[in-house]
Amino acid sequence: MTKRLVVLGTAAMLAMGAAPSGPWMDKSLPPDRRADLVMEQMTLDEKLGLVHGGSAYAGQATPQPTQSLGGAGFVPGIPRLGIPDFQMTDGRSGVANTGKRGRYATALPSSLAAGATWDVKLAYEYGALIGKEARDLGFNVSLGGTANLIREPRNGRNFECWSEDPILIGKMLGRALKGTQDQFVIGNINRYAVNDQENGRMVYSANMDKRALRETDLLAFEIAIKESDVGTVMCAYSKLNGVYACESPYLLTDVLKKAWGYKGWVMSDWGAAHSTVPSVLAGFDQEMPTGRYLGDAFKAALEKGDAPTARLDDMVHRILRTEFAVGVFDNPPSVHPVNPFTGAEVAQQVAEQSAVLLKNANGQLPLRAGAVKSIAVIGSHADVGVMSGGGSDQVDAAGGNPVAGGGAVWQPSAPLQAIREKAAGAKVSYDAGTDPASAAKLAAATEVAIVFVNQHTSEGRDVASLALPDNQDELVSRVAAANAHTIVVLETGGPVTMPWIDKVSGALEVWYPGIRGGEAAAHILFGSVNPSGKLPVTFPKSEEDLPHPVLEGLAGRTPAPFDVNYTEGLKTGYKWFDAENKAPLFPFGFGLSYTTFAYSQLKAAASGQNVTVTFTVKNTGRAAGAEVAQVYVGLPANAGEPPRRLVAWEKVPLAAGESKVVKVEVDPLYLSVFNVERDGWEVLAGEYRVYVGGSSRSTALAGTVRMAER
Ligand code: BGC
Repeated sequence: MTKRLVVLGTAAMLAMGAAPSGPWMDKSLPPDRRADLVMEQMTLDEKLGLVHGGSAYAGQATPQPTQSLGGAGFVPGIPRLGIPDFQMTDGRSGVANTGKRGRYATALPSSLAAGATWDVKLAYEYGALIGKEARDLGFNVSLGGTANLIREPRNGRNFECWSEDPILIGKMLGRALKGTQDQFVIGNINRYAVNDQENGRMVYSANMDKRALRETDLLAFEIAIKESDVGTVMCAYSKLNGVYACESPYLLTDVLKKAWGYKGWVMSDWGAAHSTVPSVLAGFDQEMPTGRYLGDAFKAALEKGDAPTARLDDMVHRILRTEFAVGVFDNPPSVHPVNPFTGAEVAQQVAEQSAVLLKNANGQLPLRAGAVKSIAVIGSHADVGVMSGGGSDQVDAAGGNPVAGGGAVWQPSAPLQAIREKAAGAKVSYDAGTDPASAAKLAAATEVAIVFVNQHTSEGRDVASLALPDNQDELVSRVAAANAHTIVVLETGGPVTMPWIDKVSGALEVWYPGIRGGEAAAHILFGSVNPSGKLPVTFPKSEEDLPHPVLEGLAGRTPAPFDVNYTEGLKTGYKWFDAENKAPLFPFGFGLSYTTFAYSQLKAAASGQNVTVTFTVKNTGRAAGAEVAQVYVGLPANAGEPPRRLVAWEKVPLAAGESKVVKVEVDPLYLSVFNVERDGWEVLAGEYRVYVGGSSRSTALAGTVRMAER
């Protein structure tokens, strides 16, 4: 009786524009209890309304709901109970769907760039900015946060990923997702799991043994989920070991919900649901963006008894408890303009911290403003902007795309302008780079040539090869032949090959650097910022050196179902190069600075399953800088693991001459192997080698710890 009265009261209050009320609005109650209290009031149809998106599917008469903000997805709420509409936006490198409002959102550097900062605090800021802007724009779910490994360097979505290393991904992405959810916006981790190439993503089956699965892609998800309590998991388009990800009981129930104790909900990638009963029984909770399988078809299955009502209740409970836990009920979005200045500051910081200096022969960089008299800036539309990745991660360019045609988007942050501002006394000329001969002619007549090159990548297709497209290798070679002071700035979605690397004096990887990318590049080139990014991914010399020299599947067509067999198992990224004794072009963890660092005094000690590593890093050069000090571990031989894995790191800012003692505690999970028979993690007894240094291939310090039998 009382409850009913309360509910009517809520409806009346909502009609008057007042905040919803009801016992579930009591903030002192735990999220699960609050969810139960609302559910007591819900009809079957209301429950069903929450487990699928409100968009129409092909052949369905339902019109698009009018209250949708036009984001990636929309699920109507239940006003009489105060359950808000779900307004969902893509949000991996910024709020991608400013929707019907056509409003401004900050284009941050790509997630891969954020990964290259190796800075967990900055990762938090990155995610927090996305959360804040999403909320300012009226969204309460941000589809941001790719935990897929970069295991295929030609994958068109690598720029949305954070790294090739599961621990680096898990820690960094975990902080970013926490940042988003602290803004009362539900976060999302995607695309679960092993959707590691785009070609044929709707039809291929990624195949891998259980141990490799748990220790590679799933480990990244496990860590990020644990670090962030992220509210939603997006299941992938592709199949895993022959079963669609969105109807895999192993992925959704056995691992995610049981082994990891996940309390949030599983939503499909857009159109990735393939069935009603098998999906629901597998642990799938919400179909997006339509109700093809979880709308009327699900209702019919419930009525026939093909699917238990308890499962529907579990799905709805997961959705509602997450809304309470993240604060969506208590702190609904309050729409107001995004502050572009705050956004630009974060974007610039990430861009500056993420740029990786790959080569600096004869101290060519930093350029000395005032001393340089003439500079040729060449290529990649550097006169108007910097490149952005494509697909659902694409944040609209503020003020429109400064480059007409071609499909790719440039953010309006012109390196040419930023370089001119830095080198006020120099003559700075621009050549589009479309004709290598004309670019070489300009380069021959200037003191320094800076060539901007790009690789456009996008969701939905992989790149055909790791070579720079559009004759840009030829461009760089011709310019380098004409000018001994050639510096290459790379705007790429991931690793590329560099046949010209021995001929240029400098190379700087800036990824897709976002709305302040031009300024950030200029700051680094002229030394007002000392580069401190490190590669979160291996750059191979050639595709021949990859576990799969030839990519499976065909671009641009819908191929017949095929298998991608990841028989390399545990050997992903640098672990493959280490185990196979192959020299990469640039190793994982690599990046130069304008200063130098020295490592000393390693102490590694084990107590139970905990390992503590202590060492000293000293800035031995003349400039202030930051070093990403990395700790790798080699497991006992009987573990059957690749030679070493990253287990900890710290980004250490140091003034010239300064030194610091760094102490890291290694999480026992990071030292573990997955025992398939026992279906659990274990730390093996034996000798562990500990390596410390500035990259996976440059570890100045080495020691040993012994782990006792448990
Ligand atoms: C992508 C998702 C994205 C969704 C909604 C899909 O094509 O794979 O990552 O969140 O579209 O835009």
